[in-house]
Amino acid sequence: MEIVIQKSAEEAARIGARIVARQIQRKPNTVLGLATGSTPLGLYRELIRLHREEGLDFSKVRTFNLDEYIGLSFDHPMSYHHFMWENLFRHLNIAKKNVHIPDGLAKDVPAFCERYEKDMKKAGGIDIQVLGIGSDGHIGFNEPTSSFSSRTRIKTLDGQTRKDNARFFKSITEVPHHCITMGIGTILESRTCLLFAFGKGKAEAIRESVEGPMAAMCPASVLQWHRDTRVLLDEAAASKLKKRAYYRSVYAGKPAWQQY
Ligand code: PGA
Repeated sequence: MEIVIQKSAEEAARIGARIVARQIQRKPNTVLGLATGSTPLGLYRELIRLHREEGLDFSKVRTFNLDEYIGLSFDHPMSYHHFMWENLFRHLNIAKKNVHIPDGLAKDVPAFCERYEKDMKKAGGIDIQVLGIGSDGHIGFNEPTSSFSSRTRIKTLDGQTRKDNARFFKSITEVPHHCITMGIGTILESRTCLLFAFGKGKAEAIRESVEGPMAAMCPASVLQWHRDTRVLLDEAAASKLKKRAYYRSVYAGKPAWQQY
């Protein structure tokens, strides 16, 4: 794991965007795994800027989103379809056929999930997976105790997650109880993971994920096992890490060829 601590969420998002942009320049048909929520918004804003001002080309990029609520249609304002088109895709030259988001209205959920996994494989696997983290340590919607080898499937949202996400809805009663999410096993197969976390509310989950034991009670801790995970934090999210000084010295001492 590489831990990158920046003064602000904006700076961390800019670094993340540079990593994504370099990957797209190297491989124009890059496969991105994408996330929703407040955390990746800065990254998406910066990618849009790179597209508009520096011509970053998304015409061949393929994307797979982590998750979607069950029961919300594509055009529901709280669906992750809507979120992704509003906050990212409609501002880029991405082809609609290259965008994949779980279908919250799938009639046969297991069959849909199997197809989603197959489509990811057919695309050659995910090059960079963008991740946020829940205050309970979830990645995607893999709640605590999710199996480390799980694949895309239905999950029941934890009460805390429904509370955390109620801010996007009119009231908590409207927050769906179920979702489709890529599994932890699915996420582990991506070549690079970029985990972003900002604010004090994420500090404990980050401490447990980075410096705690690898345990299903904290799903993000599995990333200790992943071959190339970069954790991009602001000061507040990093505030409970014991080895903060070490992580800073690693980042400051990176050789030029390794810098972002
Ligand atoms: P947030 O959600 O970015 O809105 O904090 C993160 C998550 O639940 O994975």
